[in-house]
Amino acid sequence: MKDIDVLVVWPIRPDQMAVLEQTYRVHRYDLASDTEKAHMIDTIGEQIRAVVTTHGGGFEKSLLDCLPNLEIVGCASVGFDTLCVSDCQARGIPVTHTPDVLTDDVADMAMMLLLATLRRMLPAVDWIKQGHWVAQGMMPLNTSLKGKTLGIVGLGRIGQAIASRAEAFGMNISYYSRAKKSGVSYKHYDDLMTLAKGVDVLAPVIPGGSATQGLISREVLTALGPDSYFINVSRGSVVDETALVELLAQGAIKGAGLDVFVDEPNVPDALLSMDNVVLQPHCASGTFETRAAMAQLVLDNLAAHFDNKPLLTPIQ
Ligand code: 8YV
Repeated sequence: MKDIDVLVVWPIRPDQMAVLEQTYRVHRYDLASDTEKAHMIDTIGEQIRAVVTTHGGGFEKSLLDCLPNLEIVGCASVGFDTLCVSDCQARGIPVTHTPDVLTDDVADMAMMLLLATLRRMLPAVDWIKQGHWVAQGMMPLNTSLKGKTLGIVGLGRIGQAIASRAEAFGMNISYYSRAKKSGVSYKHYDDLMTLAKGVDVLAPVIPGGSATQGLISREVLTALGPDSYFINVSRGSVVDETALVELLAQGAIKGAGLDVFVDEPNVPDALLSMDNVVLQPHCASGTFETRAAMAQLVLDNLAAHFDNKPLLTPIQ
């Protein structure tokens, strides 16, 4: 075992956790009560050289301030809006995250929500379970993906993976970003309202945080229109959730597929009873394969750091 103390704020997958425990002196902050946490930090805070966490676990400045010898933070998520990254960087502490390895599963989740929402998969299941098929015959019709326009807000790695899948389903792709992307032929908009007016489905695929807070505003959602849909696999914070719920209830937006919410794990009550909404508990990257790859990337980044090698996926 290396003579290195690691503070686990949020655990990684069991196989990689076992390797972490064989390789380092691991301190389970995640398992400690509040009193134990305070005691742990008092007694071993100065020894901690690495922190392991996720978007869900976060990493607050108040904890960073108690770790004077911290050298690296390994975060098992691509998003880092719950971590004090700039405070770490100001102290010269790199923070690593897990891009790329989760791209395909997150894009698959976006497609799953698109299909389930437009094709009304859950009401169709209910149509059978509640005996309506037998009693009333065929269920009401639903909506094709083919020929519809998907408007992606932000066209990064995950946005592009969603776009290529949606193209395979016959959808047209438009996107909003400040600068036009080179190497893609999708229609570019530098104005979000114009994009919203011109698409059938709007999907923000952007990081959370103060820069994107409420970007999908009531005005943008209203511009989308009553025959349109909203899909979100990024962060709840990027949309005005109150407006979204109201517009869905009024029929001013036709449906929504949501994997993320403002106050997870709490979901607005009104959404629970809407049959035009498909909800998922923030699990787009939640496959055995992807979570193992994310956990492995955390281990590989820590190993690179303590072997004085370049980090694999530092946040720039
Ligand atoms: C999970 C995510 O929320 O990677 C992200 O940014 O949102 C997800 O993969 C998660 O933090 C994994 O623990």
